[in-house]
Amino acid sequence: MNFLLETLRVLLLSLWYNVEAFIHLFVPKRKKNITGELVLITGAGSGIGRLMAREFAAHGTVLVLWDINQEGMKETAKLAKQNGASRVHYYLCDCSDKNEVYRVADQVKREVGDISILVNNAGIVTGKKFMDAPDSLIEKTMEVNSMAHFWTYKAFLPAMIANNHGHLVSIASSAGLISVNGLADYCASKFAAVGFAESVGLELLATGKDGIKTTIVCPYFINTGMFDGCQTKWPTLLPILDPEYVAKKILNAVLTDQVYLLLPKTMYLISALKTILPMKQGILLGQYLGAFNLMDHFRGRSRKQE
Ligand SMILES: NC(=O)c1ccc[n+]([C@@H]2O[C@H](COP(=O)([O-])OP(=O)(O)OC[C@H]3O[C@@H](n4cnc5c(N)ncnc54)[C@H](O)[C@@H]3O)[C@@H](O)[C@H]2O)c1
Repeated sequence: MNFLLETLRVLLLSLWYNVEAFIHLFVPKRKKNITGELVLITGAGSGIGRLMAREFAAHGTVLVLWDINQEGMKETAKLAKQNGASRVHYYLCDCSDKNEVYRVADQVKREVGDISILVNNAGIVTGKKFMDAPDSLIEKTMEVNSMAHFWTYKAFLPAMIANNHGHLVSIASSAGLISVNGLADYCASKFAAVGFAESVGLELLATGKDGIKTTIVCPYFINTGMFDGCQTKWPTLLPILDPEYVAKKILNAVLTDQVYLLLPKTMYLISALKTILPMKQGILLGQYLGAFNLMDHFRGRSRKQE
């Protein structure tokens, strides 16, 4: 195709994609049917993982739960069964350990089948200033929040590729798009998770595997206990999110093949402004939004809540 024709094609399609996006502001997208899909959720023993399991269950899926918290998974499994899951299987799996991920993944493939919706949700936070964070916790954060995603993809993507069918869901964070003072290792791990999911998503498109969708979830603080003690300066602009609301939004994003889900909506604006504003204005706005003090009162999850 020559330059003029190709440019014209890009201009017309760009126009159409914008019109299409505008229409979808008013007309909801068609939702896909996920009944019978095999859904694996890591970190399903509490918080968002548990609530997503409940939401997926309501669509008649088969659920596979992974966590290091056996009691938590039992509770989630009970809830998922009550909510309509056709079957629920749960496995102890420490996602920070590559060999364990591969071993348990093989067990899942033998006992349940090939996973078609993979939700990388397990996550931890150190909650210390970088120089105060022990090396072991920094390494663990990278292993759970990002490296684990490599290994679960390696384990479950081949079957999705063979069928050109599947969905990869990455529960990242707004801290994977905008850095936060006092969260260096967490931000690094979440930026990695976002970059990884984006890159493999593109790799799949480029190789014609467009039946495998990607959803990248970047929420601000959620009231699950993980970030207990953290405060938001202007709750109207940046509210601490309700976990049930987040789980429902994630399900809706999966059902409509939405690639990026940023919560609350203000995050779309903040993340767009980050790279275009003058740096000094960016810092000023960051201070105005309280970004410098978000972690000042961090306590995190107490053992009793687990
Ligand atoms: N809570 C928030 O404010 C918030 C905001 C943005 C993103 N997120 C992300 O959402 C995801 C879920 O967080 P949550 O708020 O539900 O927290 P949570 O602590 O309630 O849930 C995390 C789950 O991961 C499990 N887990 C931890 N280490 C594991 C390991 N090595 N192997 C397997 N499972 C492991 C925990 O046992 C727990 O059940 C995390 O990835 C988190 O980073 C949370």
